[in-house]
Order: sequence, then C-alpha cells, then structure tokens
Amino acid sequence: MGGYHVPVMLRESLEGLALKKGGRYLDATLGGAGHSRAILEALEGCGGGELYAIDRDREAIAEACRVVGLEPNSEERGGTVRPGVQFYILQGNFMLLDRLLQQRGVEALDGVLMDLGVSSHQLDAPERGFSFRSAGPLDMRMSDQEEGPTAAQLVAQAPLEELARILRYYGEERFAGRVAQAIVREREVRPISTTSHLAEVVERAIPQKAGKTHGGRAINPATRTFQALRIAVNRELESLQRGLEAAIGLLRPGGRLVVISYHSLEDRIVKEAIRSRLGHCTCPPRVPFCTCGAQATLREVTRRPLTPGEEELELNPRSRSAKLRVAERL
Ligand SMILES: C[S@@+](CC[C@H](N)C(=O)[O-])C[C@H]1O[C@@H](n2cnc3c(N)ncnc32)[C@H](O)[C@@H]1O
Repeated sequence: MGGYHVPVMLRESLEGLALKKGGRYLDATLGGAGHSRAILEALEGCGGGELYAIDRDREAIAEACRVVGLEPNSEERGGTVRPGVQFYILQGNFMLLDRLLQQRGVEALDGVLMDLGVSSHQLDAPERGFSFRSAGPLDMRMSDQEEGPTAAQLVAQAPLEELARILRYYGEERFAGRVAQAIVREREVRPISTTSHLAEVVERAIPQKAGKTHGGRAINPATRTFQALRIAVNRELESLQRGLEAAIGLLRPGGRLVVISYHSLEDRIVKEAIRSRLGHCTCPPRVPFCTCGAQATLREVTRRPLTPGEEELELNPRSRSAKLRVAERL
C-alpha cells in the first residue's frame, strides 16, 4: 500500500457513503487521497459523479494532486479525472466547509466523509514536530497558513493553569498538574523548542510506575501531552464541532455522513452531533405530552461505531483506535 498514508476502514467508509450515480460528495480530510482515490474509482464504477476534497495542509494537497494527476498550482485544482468523474481540491479548514463549497457553487451534498486527526505523513515528518519519536521543531500546526501559535509558542507562553487544563482535558492526562509544572520550571531555565526536549521533560515529570497501556501495549508517557498540544494548536475539537454542523446542514435527504475518529474526545463530539438530531424527546418525564417538538433530521445507520477488523489491524496497526460512525439525513 502507499507510503504517504494507508487509508483506514476504506471498505466500511465506501459502504457508509452508499455512492450513487451522479452524486456529489465531499472528502473533508483529503490527506494523501487514499479515500478520495477509492471514491473516484467507485464513482466511475457507478456511472459518474463529483467529489470535492478539503485539507488545511498544503503538503497534503500537493501529494494528493500528484496521486490523482492534477496540477497543484492551477487555480481550479480540479477537473475530469476519470470518465464521468469530476474532482476538485480545496484548501482550508473544514469548519468552513460550507463557505469553501459555496465559493464553488455547491449548495448540497449526497455524502460527506471525515477521517479525522493527522496523516502518517504528518506524524512521520520530523520537521512538522508532531511526534516525540523523531527530533524536530515543536510546531504541530497542520497548516502553516492559518493563524495561531505553534506548540513551542504555546508551551512558552501559556500560564500554568491553562497548560494543566489543556493536558487534562485534551490529553486526558492524569498527571496534568505535574507535567504543566515541570514545563513551567523548565522553560524558566531553557526554552522548550524541540519535540525531544518536551518528551524528556514529560518523561521526568510522570512517575515511572504509572506507565499506561493501550490494548496491552505500553504507551510512551509523552503520548498524551503531545495529543493535547496538537488538539489545542489546531483547535481540532472546535473545528470538528463546526465542521459537523456545516456538513449535516448541506446533506440532501438520504445523504450520508461518515466519520472516522481516533480518540474518545472526537468520538464523543461525533456521537453527540448525531444523537442530538435523532429527534428524541427532551421533555421532562413528568410532562403529560411532548412540548419540545423534537424532530429527527438524522437516522443512525451504525448504532455502535464500527472498528477495524483483525486483518486491517495487522496490516495497519495505526488503525487500532479508529471508530467509524454513519448517519443518514432524513
Ligand atoms: C487522517 S488524515 C486523512 C487521510 C486520508 N483519508 C487518506 O486516506 O489519505 C487527516 C487529514 O485531515 C486534515 N485535517 C485535519 N483536520 C482538518 C481540518 N479541521 N480542516 C481541514 N483539514 C483537516 C489533516 O491535515 C490530514 O491531512
């Protein structure tokens, strides 16, 4: 499989989208175009259609253009890529997906895919600063064109309490207070500007015996701190919340929303966005008849999230935390 990023739960994603002839779809997280390429192929197979794709990362867009044979610097960044199939790539944050699509005259969709988080390429490129496994500048921005501090700036400037809150909430770090204190002490002596320096500080702050495991595998003590800072730097949860609202708002009746999330904070937001639109009555139990007027706008296609099968887990261990949910617009 490709070297940039191996697409996760590809078969399940395509089944979830339930592509149909002439349909108009959005891949809100283009990455290395693993899912997009398969959607384009499937659209050709079912008689044609249109796919729009968004990413906030310029490098991902350049790679995706290369994969599908589009000119990355052209104004259109799109066109007919297979018989009967149009593909257009847009750069930006998916929280603004409705605006990005409106600029192209798109007002409604038959399906949206969101494969959240970072790509393997982003994680593995030391200069992007996402991983404690490779030494690099502490950056972590998915897009260098959007405003917002780098992880190094956040770590240098955030007050102790804010750092602790970020680590506790976004990283679910049990030792958030201790790690935040260690960061503040260290930055008074020496600025923390590299991934390896931060990883060392975290490792020293967390009691050795507290090593946690994930599905029986030991996880590095810096994992949660890095996850937390990445989420904060990229305002990931806020983007997800707003992106989901925009995506659901654009779906035509029968249109599908397919979301793959990689940690509990993301999955909770996706679950809530779907459940809150199922039309469940919110009246207090003692009210004799319903006054809240709850109306369903979505139907849950997957009551419980789907997870990767054993074969996929073996081929692509990075898929291990994936959860896929599908909903349909009523
Ligand atoms: C897990 S990767 C997607 C991989 C892709 N499905 C594939 O198979 O190649 C997630 C991608 O979404 C992008 N991304 C994450 N959050 C985003 C956001 N709020 N707006 C736009 N792109 C985002 C990242 O830059 C990354 O390239």
